[in-house]
Amino acid sequence: MIFYRKEAVSQIIEKANNTGKKLEIEIGSGNGHFLAEYGKQRPESIILGIEYKKQRCEKIQKKIQASYLDNCSLIYDDAQKIVDSLPPESINAFHIYFPDPWPKSKHRKRRFLRAENLDKLAQSLKPGGQIFFASDFFDYSLQAKILILLHPELNLVQTEAPKEVYLSMFAARFTELEKQINLVTAQKKGL
Ligand SMILES: C[S@@+](CC[C@H](N)C(=O)[O-])C[C@H]1O[C@@H](n2cnc3c(N)ncnc32)[C@H](O)[C@@H]1O
Repeated sequence: MIFYRKEAVSQIIEKANNTGKKLEIEIGSGNGHFLAEYGKQRPESIILGIEYKKQRCEKIQKKIQASYLDNCSLIYDDAQKIVDSLPPESINAFHIYFPDPWPKSKHRKRRFLRAENLDKLAQSLKPGGQIFFASDFFDYSLQAKILILLHPELNLVQTEAPKEVYLSMFAARFTELEKQINLVTAQKKGL
């Protein structure tokens, strides 16, 4: 199911609450490899992908439909808008895999996982909820670890991202190139 407006997020949250399912969000779903494979293995969760490139959304939609994944949804929009509008303690997990690394130091403020966004993700997580992050870019994963360590509501934990992360388009590309994949996981305190 593709939604085009951020208002629809409230419907998805309501659906998760009404069905007792977990709600997990993938930010920047690319071509949907992770979303579809993870969704197949997690009938107990609703997985919401957010992707702002139209052609990629079309590929994701095809994957969702081809496998009849009624627990997977997609929003074609800027994840920033969605994250800005999430209610507190409404989400069980965020998945952020291979976000654009913005390697130049003058562009680092554009990275999605920066201090103010980590704050927003932490606020919208339920207690015990998790943020799974992966990057081939060591500097970005180090930034993520430091921000998590400094965050009062989060713990840096050893739990690795689900194995389906290795099926994502970029993970497959980096594995082929024998590039290091750096995984970072945060867990919200208070469980
Ligand atoms: C480097 S790709 C990684 C895709 C996928 N996660 C993977 O591992 O194969 C980053 C993706 O995030 C999307 N993206 C970047 N910023 C976004 C934003 N603010 N909102 C929604 N999608 C975004 C891009 O369009 C792209 O598809």
